[in-house]
Amino acid sequence: MGHMPALLAFAMLWAAGAASSEPAALPPASLDLKVASKWLPNAAGKYDWSRAGYAGGERSIPQVPPGATFSVRRYGAKGDGKTDDSRAVQAALAATMARGGVLLFPRGTYLLRSPLFIDRSRVVIMGEGPAATSLVFARSLSAVYGGSYTADPCTGKIKSTWAFGGGFITLSGKAGRPKRPEQLARVKGDYPPGTTRLKVDSTAPFKAGMWVALLLNDQSTILPSGAKEPDYVNCTLAGGKGRRLQQGSAAARLFALPPPSDPILQLALEAAARETDEFILPQQAAAADALHAASGGEVVASMAPRGSVAAWIYGNNLVDSGGPGALNENSVRYSFRVKAVGRGYIDMDRPTIHQIKRAWTVTLHKYNYGIQEVGVQGLTIRFKNSGVYGDHLTDRGYNAIQLEGLRNAWVRDVRILGADNGVFVANAEFVTLASITVNTTRSRAGGPKVEANLQGHHALSTSLGQSVLISRFNIAKKYWHDVTLSGGAELCVVHRGKGLDLNVDYHRAGPWANLLTNTDFGLANRPFASGGRGDRGANTGRGSVFWNVYPGGGEGALSLPAKCDFGPLLTFYGRFKGKTCPASGWTVRRMPSGAPADLYLAQVQERRRLMRRLAAG
Ligand SMILES: *[C@@H]1O[C@H](CO)[C@@H](O)[C@H](O)[C@H]1NC(C)=O
Ligand SMILES: *[C@@H]1O[C@H](CO)[C@@H](O)[C@H](O)[C@H]1NC(C)=O
Repeated sequence: MGHMPALLAFAMLWAAGAASSEPAALPPASLDLKVASKWLPNAAGKYDWSRAGYAGGERSIPQVPPGATFSVRRYGAKGDGKTDDSRAVQAALAATMARGGVLLFPRGTYLLRSPLFIDRSRVVIMGEGPAATSLVFARSLSAVYGGSYTADPCTGKIKSTWAFGGGFITLSGKAGRPKRPEQLARVKGDYPPGTTRLKVDSTAPFKAGMWVALLLNDQSTILPSGAKEPDYVNCTLAGGKGRRLQQGSAAARLFALPPPSDPILQLALEAAARETDEFILPQQAAAADALHAASGGEVVASMAPRGSVAAWIYGNNLVDSGGPGALNENSVRYSFRVKAVGRGYIDMDRPTIHQIKRAWTVTLHKYNYGIQEVGVQGLTIRFKNSGVYGDHLTDRGYNAIQLEGLRNAWVRDVRILGADNGVFVANAEFVTLASITVNTTRSRAGGPKVEANLQGHHALSTSLGQSVLISRFNIAKKYWHDVTLSGGAELCVVHRGKGLDLNVDYHRAGPWANLLTNTDFGLANRPFASGGRGDRGANTGRGSVFWNVYPGGGEGALSLPAKCDFGPLLTFYGRFKGKTCPASGWTVRRMPSGAPADLYLAQVQERRRLMRRLAAG
């Protein structure tokens, strides 16, 4: 027995696309390098994306999730579209939460007023398909929580808490995740990307097969000690007029409020703090002011210190790498399995994708994703009377689904109608979003931008996520941000999607090494229109690949991002028009002949082929 049979078993399971348990032995990490190089031999971004999605692609999402089934009908839900089924559904949810299993919504239309909150593993919310099962929410999260707006100290504008987080269905592993993941060891030495063996200061905590998280930090991700959230902000960089929060003002009092106890509201506030202008620290503001003053009032690119983590993510400062704290602490991270433990080193089951420098704080941590094996599938979520969507960041919280702090999770076969926000994914790994349609039954366009015809804020969004797979989606109306890859999104894949006038938004704060492929941009008026706070670096970090993406119908060419400051070391394969940016390290090419239409699927097939070959000896 021993090593080979287990490896063969793993290879065969992978080749069949349906492994059932954790493998006892792992294939060689060199496999990833082979997969990565096959179609991108010389690209700046050369990654193996075949591990994206649920369970890293090692097994498929279960067709029928395991465990007991709790039908909401048995708890008294009517599903007639008229009766308020909230109490029956909450009772069924409580029973599901007690034991784990499937919360089943049989064919029908369920009128609901309260959010569904899941914070344990192995719970799946399941309908009989989006055409058969509908959950209809008749009010917003603002109505549920009595408002919940925050003030933007820079503009004095009141902003919605619900523009970046919160969902009527929330799956959250946050409670099980310590704020500071337990440190196991420090990495010693300098390594180029593609390394598979790391020297560590202690091997005692490691065992072959265990998952660990590698974190890369330095002064560009961690603000100087003593920095704490401010009671005022100097807003010069944020485009404000230098106004600041007055002590004792209504807005200042908002900041002083104790954190709310409701977990859905907490998640939403945290996401808002992460994404918006609210919490610029005094150090950031001072640095921003200095830059601003030095430029004679022009907005200039700010640069992370040379040699820092943020500088590296932004191509050694080929483009704007942001002010201090542009990247979130621990947002540059990488989860892998230990393949073997040696004398003073560990071997990884996959190669690093980062540079590692001894000057940085490079540490290995206990893997800390809170919950897993959770999902939402086979239903429509409709917001009844959700009215018009007003100005940017005025969302009242008609938000469908939020996934936070989890791995091996999914949302599939879901239709979302009339939402401010569709699906938020944050602090997540190996998650699949598949076959999701975001649409409205009648126009929600309103407010000052009514002519832009925007129907909501984020349709599908991921931040702080590794290997999130966004597949077969249709954003059938225009959202501000149709698909968003935000800070800390790495090795994510967006493919086989389409949209009325799709935009894929690279939202600054260092999303990097993401793949966009085989996607139909519809009217193609705004393919790379992107947002994100201005002091957080260019829209994407290094190594993003754009492979065979096209206007609706496949005719014509897609416009390249208009600014060279969009991101460094980018690879565009396909038909593109507009100015290319060699100084930012862009490669823009026609598709090589014989190249696959979908780089992600081609990589998955290549991995399977190599695994079969391994199994055959
Ligand atoms: C805010 O920024 C302005 C412009 O740089 C500066 O003159 C002012 O002193 C700053 N205010 C505070 C309170 O730091
Ligand atoms: C989106 O909704 C409109 C009605 O507003 C409908 O005509 C269209 O077929 C829907 N699209 C999809 C993809 O479901």
